[in-house]
Amino acid sequence: MAGLLQDKIALVTGAAMGNGEGIARVMAAKGATVILADKNEKVFETAASLGQAATAYQVDVSQYDQVAQMAEQVMAQFGRLDILVNNAGIARMIPVDNMDDALRDLHYQVNMVGTWNCVKAFIPHMIKRKYGRILNMSSVTGPRVVDPGMMGYAMSKGAISAFTKAIAMDVAKYGITSNAILPGYFLTPMVMHSAQETDPKNPQRVLDGIAAGVPLGRFGKPEEIGYLAAFLASDEAAYFTGQEFVIDGGAGLPETNSMGVVND
Ligand SMILES: NC(=O)c1ccc[n+]([C@@H]2O[C@H](COP(=O)([O-])OP(=O)(O)OC[C@H]3O[C@@H](n4cnc5c(N)ncnc54)[C@H](O)[C@@H]3O)[C@@H](O)[C@H]2O)c1
Repeated sequence: MAGLLQDKIALVTGAAMGNGEGIARVMAAKGATVILADKNEKVFETAASLGQAATAYQVDVSQYDQVAQMAEQVMAQFGRLDILVNNAGIARMIPVDNMDDALRDLHYQVNMVGTWNCVKAFIPHMIKRKYGRILNMSSVTGPRVVDPGMMGYAMSKGAISAFTKAIAMDVAKYGITSNAILPGYFLTPMVMHSAQETDPKNPQRVLDGIAAGVPLGRFGKPEEIGYLAAFLASDEAAYFTGQEFVIDGGAGLPETNSMGVVND
């Protein structure tokens, strides 16, 4: 049986590590030709380890000229792009007593403008072919919940969710879908860095606390986002558009942390 994404050409940003790597691995396993894009040169190593005709680009998604150049090369090599996964993102703590403008702008530039740039560069080609799947990596942080220090990050993810819906309206008539993925906590270099920022002396305490708050009792694994992304990117998901898909191990469920909890 052919894979779910057989003969599809997919581009995943932020694919050198973490969730993007998980998405790239699952999409490749399901038959897609995967193009990996990342600012970090580790992207070449990750692409090589996928063991198929994966192509890698070292690109900063916040810089439109770099993204446009990549789009030109992708079109020259493959002639089309079926699936665009805007996953590249950053998260930095911003304390409310030090609302750093530069950090605000960094979230905006990478998370929001980076997503905008990739859509802008590839959407004309998708419109021409009347086919495309756009997946944007939002988060539960912002659209659903927040932790302290997340104002820059939450703001950018709220914007990504809104952008996802706006684009969905504009491209529906071309048969292109646009959906957002809203992960809870997944154990990636980003989360380990945030735990380190929160408690430099004992980041493990932060990680244990996160896992303890998840009804399924653990962090998500990047490949589990990959399975969701692969489905949403497939032809089987043709009727989903403009939606937000939460994947959080039930973390958003608890109403209290005491009611119904019996100490034995
Ligand atoms: N890990 C989580 O718990 C979690 C939860 C919700 C949402 N997310 C989102 O998932 C996505 C991936 O997060 P992650 O946890 O894997 O992060 P990560 O830091 O582990 O990996 C992010 C990747 O994006 C790349 N990147 C960063 N800035 C870039 C830029 N300007 N251009 C190109 N590449 C760039 C990095 O080099 C890195 O390889 C992000 O959008 C993040 O906000 C993560």
